[in-house]
Amino acid sequence: LASLEVDVSAIKPGQIVTVKWRGKPVFIRNRTPEEIEAARKVPLGELKDPQTDEARVQKGRDNWLIVVGVCTHLGCVPLGGVGQRGEYNGWFCPCHGSSYDTSGRIRKGPAPYNLPVPSVQFLSDKVVKIG
Ligand code: FES
Repeated sequence: LASLEVDVSAIKPGQIVTVKWRGKPVFIRNRTPEEIEAARKVPLGELKDPQTDEARVQKGRDNWLIVVGVCTHLGCVPLGGVGQRGEYNGWFCPCHGSSYDTSGRIRKGPAPYNLPVPSVQFLSDKVVKIG
């Protein structure tokens, strides 16, 4: 119950899948090289909750961004569908307009913190353990 194993092999580049973990949505995003680059070129000084992209993913698995899908403002579930990702191409929270980037970091709007990264461990190339 505490941890969840997910087969990520069917998640295509650019795609986001939502799973449920400990009663909360968790977003699993297979990032494209462009999305990774966009996250990495942001100067830390521009971030409200400064954190490098490298610190938010597993080394050597930089395409996989896994974040808890609960807006850090008042807890809505941000949108991540194609065309709904907001101006930083991450997630957009429709409740009060917070925009997150391709690293799940808060970039605009009232949310104070980045989308949290749960404890993540890749058991193989296909299977990731969350929690
Ligand atoms: Fe997301 Fe307020 S709950 S912006």
